[in-house]
Amino acid sequence: MGEIADAGLTRTSYHFRVTSFPLQSVPVHPEKGPSSDERRAAALADPGFGRHFSDHVARARWTSDGGWDDTRIGRLADLAMHPASAVMHYGQSIFEGLKAYRHSDDSIWVFRPDRNAARFARSAERLALPVLPEELFVDSVVQLVAADAAWVPTPSGPDGEQSLYLRPVMYASEAFLGVRPAKEITYLAMASPADAYFADGVHGVRLWVCRDWVRAAPGGTGAAKCGGNYAASLVAQEQARARGCDQVLWLDAQQRHIEESGTMNLCLVTDDGELLTPASETILDGVTRDSLLTLAGEHGLTPVMRPVELAELTARILDGGITEAFACGTAAVITPVTALLDGDRDLVVADGRPGPATLALREHLLDLQFGRRPDPYGWLRQVG
Ligand code: COI
Repeated sequence: MGEIADAGLTRTSYHFRVTSFPLQSVPVHPEKGPSSDERRAAALADPGFGRHFSDHVARARWTSDGGWDDTRIGRLADLAMHPASAVMHYGQSIFEGLKAYRHSDDSIWVFRPDRNAARFARSAERLALPVLPEELFVDSVVQLVAADAAWVPTPSGPDGEQSLYLRPVMYASEAFLGVRPAKEITYLAMASPADAYFADGVHGVRLWVCRDWVRAAPGGTGAAKCGGNYAASLVAQEQARARGCDQVLWLDAQQRHIEESGTMNLCLVTDDGELLTPASETILDGVTRDSLLTLAGEHGLTPVMRPVELAELTARILDGGITEAFACGTAAVITPVTALLDGDRDLVVADGRPGPATLALREHLLDLQFGRRPDPYGWLRQVG
């Protein structure tokens, strides 16, 4: 109890249970101590995305001999890493993204952490990393949010989508230069107050159809949320920006089907009432996308997941068969896609403005996440 008080928290104030992620004994250093109210207030007033970090981090260690141990919530601090840490050489790392939301009664909720835990496990298997049991994953983020409850923003402003973005990551921390799965692994989960991912998001983004590079091929790592996929995407993202676009539209390895956008899944609304999204083994199984497919029926839309050829997309944008397009993901929520650039050809979706189904689904999802409407699916997990 004394140790917890050292870190400025008490079990009662944050409703700590005895858990696998107890708050660690943290000596308080005045210069690196609890974040000042001013620093937190400034961060919450203008969170942006991924720029500010809360006070704590959840951590765990895995060794091939002992399995998972040393699970704790400690103070966020720089890491000391051996230069030979395998992740820095061979990129054996995965991550997740999920959010915690403050409701109007000040209760705090995490959205579908079990689903992120399951995807984290699939990513781990693909990268020859150990699986973090679902209950440990969920507990780590819930306890982290409990410790940093003051960092969960109160939604405000016209978009009102401020939340606490949670970023679990797992990487090979063994110092060893041979190429094999590492025998020592570190798991961390950090938290960062977040505003809209795209400053202009609700007004729509323009995607560049990338034909110069391939994001993923069958048998590769496309369905895993691993750092390497994002590293390999950056050159294309810069090319997209140089062409006045906000993000990339990735094609499959044959350049025939559409896959996903840089950091988001893609959805289309058709004139015959479908919410259509590409089926592919080489894209991320998005939690937001799955949620929207579930909500589609309430908006008179039929959810359809099937391969979508670029030729079909182009033809149906031109003949009006695609009435709306949007990208979706935890960070981006729902971002309308109002145009595509394919080579020299600019393809404007419908009238070039965010469509009504896009905006209605966006509002529905945010209302559910922020507790402004019931959660019949049991997607929200309360903190505390
Ligand atoms: C997310 O939406 O959570 C992502 O991981 C996308 C991006 C910020 C990498």
